[in-house]
Amino acid sequence: MKILFVTPECAPWVKTGGLGEVSAALPKALGERGHDVKVLMPAYRSLRDQLDQGELLADIPAQGVWPAARLVQAPPSVHQTAGFTLWLLDCPALYDLAGGPYQDESSQDHATNAVRFGWLSQVAARLGSTLTPVPGWQADIVHCNDWPTGLAPAYLSRLPGRAASVMTIHNLAFQGLFPLDEAAGLDLPDEWLSVSGLEYWSQLSFMKGGLQFADAITTVSPTYAREIQEEPLGFGLQGVLRDHADRLHGILNGIDTAVWHPAVDTFIPQRYDASTVQTGKRANKAALQMRCHLNPDPQAMLFGVVSRLTAQKGSDLIVQAVPEIIAQGGQLVMLGKGDAELESALRSMAQQHPGRVHVSIGFDEGLAHLIEAGADCFLMPSRFEPCGLNQLYSLVYGTPPIVHATGGLADSVVDEVTGFVFTPSTAEALIAAITRALSRYRDPVAWGRLIQGGMAQSLDWSGSAERYESVYRNLHLRVI
Ligand code: ADP
Ligand code: GLC
Repeated sequence: MKILFVTPECAPWVKTGGLGEVSAALPKALGERGHDVKVLMPAYRSLRDQLDQGELLADIPAQGVWPAARLVQAPPSVHQTAGFTLWLLDCPALYDLAGGPYQDESSQDHATNAVRFGWLSQVAARLGSTLTPVPGWQADIVHCNDWPTGLAPAYLSRLPGRAASVMTIHNLAFQGLFPLDEAAGLDLPDEWLSVSGLEYWSQLSFMKGGLQFADAITTVSPTYAREIQEEPLGFGLQGVLRDHADRLHGILNGIDTAVWHPAVDTFIPQRYDASTVQTGKRANKAALQMRCHLNPDPQAMLFGVVSRLTAQKGSDLIVQAVPEIIAQGGQLVMLGKGDAELESALRSMAQQHPGRVHVSIGFDEGLAHLIEAGADCFLMPSRFEPCGLNQLYSLVYGTPPIVHATGGLADSVVDEVTGFVFTPSTAEALIAAITRALSRYRDPVAWGRLIQGGMAQSLDWSGSAERYESVYRNLHLRVI
């Protein structure tokens, strides 16, 4: 099948979180299954080098509020390393901006986001129709990811000879809401601007567009697929999701084991597998303690965190749990970036406990890998978590995770078998789980069993890619 995978971010070029990782790993896994996969992403400023060496596929004339653009195929070296073909939508007025994919350098949303992602969605839709701008290439499946691509299924529904569309929800908390008057120029018919279309409490919702018009909706774990059909995790769209329950599938994310596996990880000082995990982790723990200025104590149980610092991730619960970790002789290393208040609470916590708590504010790929390899135990007390990748990495790295029983965390960690699962999402429940982990850690045989339980899981993308493939196949037969 010809699959167009349209996304606002794709690792290693652009990554603000798990969506970036999934947008690289799933297309690669689908390619390995024999599909012709193109990943379509805007040519942000950080990607301009690729344009110079790339191949021009099409000139796309201006339309309405959208400036003229070009579609450029990234050079073959990208295909060789990524395992898929990367197509870039080049439109400097919209995408050659300072900052990240969604926000400027002062963390304000780019003012033109509706136009920016509307254009991405429009071009994706055309690539799935007989109006394709690339002669000889029309997608069978247009696979959209999160609100920035939400208008694509809507646009596609009106185009001739169209592909089937799939909308994947990675996080329903982000919906792409804009004032309704921003719809002008976005080629949206008036009848869509009502509650049965894209309107959401007097605003324009890109996410709702995707949900209303996609031929299939998927989300990134079976539990989250159930949770979003109810309050509060439906974030107001639970009714829409219930209406479309027959086309909603929960498929757990996998991990790219060429990047995230302790036997091949190029970021860590000592590689290991299940048979060498004890010595491997000891060396990586020492390296992590040294890098983070923690006391070089091999006995102290070291808790790790890599996370966006937000209420979603329960970072505040970790702040509340620190005194207990310290009281029981543990250490904590935390890498993250996010809410200013949480950042400063964490900084002051580190100052209070030198040698015991280290907090690194920022985005640091190498440190994220070292924490997975060097920590004894990983904390992920997310209030909600559509899938979550770090608990999967933790299982593979022999770093049993402590997770709240929600979404993909509940679907991937088995209490006392591969990690620790707690509920409700309170500091008390988190502390109780930490206490259970600390007491298990004091029994090396029992702890070893826990580590082996996690490392024995097969968490790569093969099973989930097959599930996506079967969603595609069912649609392809229906739509074409
Ligand atoms: P989300 O996408 O909701 O943030 P996920 O668990 O799906 O959560 O994915 C987060 C990804 O981003 C992981 O690969 C994680 O290692 C990475 N990550 C998050 N914060 C940082 C950070 N501060 N530095 C480096 N990597 C980070
Ligand atoms: C989102 C979710 C996270 C998920 C990721 C990739 O960012 O918050 O739980 O793992 O998307 O699907």
